[in-house]
Order: sequence, then structure tokens, then C-alpha cells
Amino acid sequence: MDYNDAMVEVDVVNLLHSGRIGLAPMEGVIDAATRDLLTRSAGIDWTVTEFVRVVDTRLPPRVFLRHCPELASGDPRTPSGIPVHLQLLGSDPAALAANARQALSLGATSLDLNFGCPAKLVNRHDGGASMLRDPHRLRTAVAAVHGAVGDTLPVTAKIRLGFADRRLALDCARAAEDGGARQLVVHARTRNEGYRPPAHWEWIGRIRQHLSIPVVANGDIWTLEDYWKARTLSGCPDVMLGRGALADPGLASRIRHWQATGERRPSTGWPTKAETLLDYAAMQRNILPQKVVVARLKQWMNHMRGRDSEAARCFQALRRVTELEDFLAGLRASMTPEAPALTA
Ligand SMILES: Cc1cc2nc3c(=O)[nH]c(=O)nc-3n(C[C@H](O)[C@H](O)[C@H](O)COP(=O)(O)O)c2cc1C
Repeated sequence: MDYNDAMVEVDVVNLLHSGRIGLAPMEGVIDAATRDLLTRSAGIDWTVTEFVRVVDTRLPPRVFLRHCPELASGDPRTPSGIPVHLQLLGSDPAALAANARQALSLGATSLDLNFGCPAKLVNRHDGGASMLRDPHRLRTAVAAVHGAVGDTLPVTAKIRLGFADRRLALDCARAAEDGGARQLVVHARTRNEGYRPPAHWEWIGRIRQHLSIPVVANGDIWTLEDYWKARTLSGCPDVMLGRGALADPGLASRIRHWQATGERRPSTGWPTKAETLLDYAAMQRNILPQKVVVARLKQWMNHMRGRDSEAARCFQALRRVTELEDFLAGLRASMTPEAPALTA
């Protein structure tokens, strides 16, 4: 099916309806510690794990627990009580069903299916966004998972607007709904568009008008203005924040504050962001190898530096540092602007 602009009816949503805010799954970036840190202040309503990659076997419990340590408590939530949904990525219906049952037996309370991953390796093996080329297969995958867990667990799906183009966007969205998905997150770009702006929020609106399940708008929400535009153009009350929440860990609570009071708080200052990174290091240094902690800190800081000149300066000063202690010392020094470590 194809569309033209005449078919689009842009819904101007009532922004006083607070809507929900999800924290996006981000492989290699948003782990349990990040989920914990980003849900400490109010704003995020649900989170999703990095994807568990399903090929053709039932994975052992340790794989699920590695991706979702929150399962160990018997009720997968962040320490602040925000639900953690488990994400699966795969294309084989039988393997997805077997792993859905495994997740259920381990205490998962919601399963999300990834049909958006653009990685070449994943797509070559027919996972992630490659499923967007065939809505029938997408429907079969969702139905297999839904059939495996029945109504005990809600099954949700996350798609992009298509693989190479948007022609199958609505068909894929409908396939997810027909397969039994209870919610659909739409990242407003095709797979081939990667992460290049703009995000086509109006396309999410086109999809939303044809579905009866909740549709969640995702892609390029970095600021309060983006939030407003994404909601207005998509007509979706609910959004999901990925890189924007990493770039400004206070974004979700600033949105909430704005909705509640009308006051626009400025974006979070660098010292507070640096403090978040220090907290992350403190949580991970006894769990992950020190070099991995440094790599993860750099990755997070990389998401911060695009919109924050102090973060950019600090990133530049520390980008070749590989020892954790040196990195943390540099980070601490950056919290006072005249710090010698950053004048080099
Ligand atoms: C580094 C990285 C890792 C990602 N990993 C996942 C993933 O595991 N599962 C998934 O569904 N989407 C994944 N995504 C896509 C995000 O969830 C989100 O859809 C995308 O970043 C657009 O939202 P944003 O502009 O708010 O970041 C990833 C994105 C990035 C940049």
C-alpha cells in the first residue's frame, strides 16, 4: 500500500494528556545499570532490555539473566519500580516461541519483538528490520510468540517504517497487530535511513490511524520541542526516548515538569551529567572488566557531546584514555571548568 499526503490527517493532540514515556532498548548502551540511573527521577514509565538474539535454539536462563538481571528478583523492574520488558530478536517462529516460553518461566512480564535492527549481520540472518520486507513472516513471528505465552504476557513489537522504503509500513504495522501485538513502537525511519534525520513522525500518524492497539512514536526526540512535534505530528500520546535520554538523562523529567507546570527547565548541566557517568562507573566497575566500563562511558558520553559543548570538550580530552582510574579522574576534573586535565 502507498500513501499520499492528502490521506494524512494530522491530529493535534492535547498535550495536557500526559501520555507515557518509554526508555528505548539500545544494545551495548542501555544495560541494567543505565536503566536504573535513567529511571531514578520520575518520567520514564517503562524500559526495554537490549535484544536477546534468537537463532534456532532455546537459550539457557543465563543468557536471559545477562540481558535482564532484573529477572532475578522475580518481578523485572528497575530499583525505582519501573517495569522492564524483555526484547527478543529473531525470525524463526518455533525458536521465538520456545524462547518466549523460557522467558515466561524465568519471570518475564512483557515480551517485545525487535523488527527494527539495521545491523548487517542481523539482517543477513533474517532478523530485525529484514522482517519488514515480508509482513506475512512478521505476522507469523508475532503470532508464534503470542501463541506460546497466551494472554499471560503482553507481546509488543517495535518496527521501523520499512526496509528500503515505506511502501509496506502500514502492512507491517497491521501484521504486528493481527499477530497479537498489544502495542507497537514505530521508529520513524526506514532501515536504509539508519539514524539520519529527519524522523518522519507524520508517518507514525498514518499508521496510528489504522490500528486499534496503542502506537508509540519513536525517533529523534532530543528536546521539549521535539517531544511536542513528535506528539503533534504522530497523534500518539505515548513516545519512546533513546539517544535523547542518554544525551540528557533529565529529558523525561523535564518533559513531565513542563506538562505539569508549563515551565521549561533548561537541559541538564554538565556536572550533573558527569555525576551520572560517575555513578554508572561505580555500579559497573565490579561487574564488568575495567576497559569495558571505559568503553561504555565513552559511548554514553558520545551521545552527550552532540548537544553539550562541555561534554564535547571532556570527550575530546578523554577519548584516548583507556585506564578506568584515569578516565574517572578526568571526568571529575571536568566538573570544574578550569580543571587542568581538560585544558591540555
Ligand atoms: C546504539 C544503539 C543500539 C540500539 N539497540 C536496539 C535494540 O537492542 N533494540 C531495539 O529495538 N532498538 C535498538 N536501537 C534503536 C532504538 O531503540 C531507537 O529506536 C532509535 O535509536 C531511535 O530512537 P532515538 O532517536 O530516540 O534514539 C538501538 C539504537 C542505537 C543507536
